[in-house]
Amino acid sequence: MNIKWDADKYTADFSFVHQYGNSLTELIDADKGCRVLDLGCGNGALTKVLHDKGFDVIGIDASRELLDIAGKNYPDIEFIQADAVNFSLGEPVDAVFSNAVFHWIDKYKQRDMLKCVHKALKENGQFVFEFGGYGNNALIHEALSKIFSEHGYCYKMPFYFPTIGEYSALLENSGFRVKYAVLFDRPTELKGENGLKDWINMFVKTPFSVVENAEEREFIKNAACDSLKNTLYKDGKWYADYVRIRMKAVRTAD
Ligand code: BEZ
Repeated sequence: MNIKWDADKYTADFSFVHQYGNSLTELIDADKGCRVLDLGCGNGALTKVLHDKGFDVIGIDASRELLDIAGKNYPDIEFIQADAVNFSLGEPVDAVFSNAVFHWIDKYKQRDMLKCVHKALKENGQFVFEFGGYGNNALIHEALSKIFSEHGYCYKMPFYFPTIGEYSALLENSGFRVKYAVLFDRPTELKGENGLKDWINMFVKTPFSVVENAEEREFIKNAACDSLKNTLYKDGKWYADYVRIRMKAVRTAD
């Protein structure tokens, strides 16, 4: 899961990703001084929120570009470059936290990631996370998929958006007990008149690798935005049809 991010644009125009994550930090029930890992910490904005709550935090991310921003903004926090599906910590932590990360991890690599989290947690340690759930951005992906096929291309869905049932089973089979789970709609306002196209440019990159011609890529993106105007553009603003899965689990004994 190593994505090349336009880190400055991500930080400037998509700050809602971490702003919405603020309330997720409240699910961690631990004393000040407890050791917390922020898995897929990105630019470190939520790692800082956890730090300010008094936790002893460490942030891990695969992206050098985002970690450079995190290190510059929050020099007192420890950040490490590592892949979520293949990392290990010297000492186990009291809680693992993750916001808006796991949908980037292939369905068949989720077990590897959960194995690393299990190893990184103390027994009874808390695992609190949120990511894109079943049906996330369905209107956007359906529109893109339709236009891809009209142009003779196959749209390969680049994300994993599971149901609560599917992810609970995965957790239980990986040594966790599920304590809390919710799937909810969260229509999300996008920035600017080109909000949806900017969102596609930022987040939907790999499906376009099959479209070699730059003009055709532009055409497909514009056609998708045009076709979604009736549903996702309201009172001069674009909205993305986000659906979140939010869960809390605890690590059971080996
Ligand atoms: C999400 O946070 O759900 C998400 C963000 C970008 C692309 C896909 C999903």
